[in-house]
Amino acid sequence: MNKQQREAMVRVDQAGEFGATRIYAGQLAVMGDRAPQSAEILHMAQQEEAHRARFDAMIVERGVRPTLLHPVWSAAGFALGAATALIGPEAAMACTAAIETEIDRHYTEQLEELGDTDPELGAVIRQFRDDERAHRDAALAAGAERAPAYPVLFHAIRLGCRAAIRLSAKI
Ligand SMILES: [Fe+2]
Ligand SMILES: [Fe+2]
Repeated sequence: MNKQQREAMVRVDQAGEFGATRIYAGQLAVMGDRAPQSAEILHMAQQEEAHRARFDAMIVERGVRPTLLHPVWSAAGFALGAATALIGPEAAMACTAAIETEIDRHYTEQLEELGDTDPELGAVIRQFRDDERAHRDAALAAGAERAPAYPVLFHAIRLGCRAAIRLSAKI
């Protein structure tokens, strides 16, 4: 793992955590505090804010160029959150289940690539991965799989998330 590769990791992770905050913002804009899942979403949204703040700080500390795609992720994340929430609370949960499944895979892959080359970054990623796994489990417990067309929704969101990860590492 050279410095450039580690910088790409920080760039993509900061973009991802930013995207996560936008997804939840979109969901909360539609659902407010009315749905039984609202408290859960608010809790996850607050954790995403903390994740994002940590990577924002790392971007500055390490002098990493942020992704140029921020405006895209801002709009796309918010739209994804709002659209799934409009389908219904279960679809909002399906969105979280899909995203966090992909992020778990992504963070786990990064941890393997990092090995012990960057203990500071590794510790942050490990802690956040555990949070994201908890988000995925909470979403499943809150009825994600009862969403209409769950397999299609789940798969499409995972693919979108994967594409976003690839793009944010480079651009
Ligand atoms: Fe996160
Ligand atoms: Fe999360």
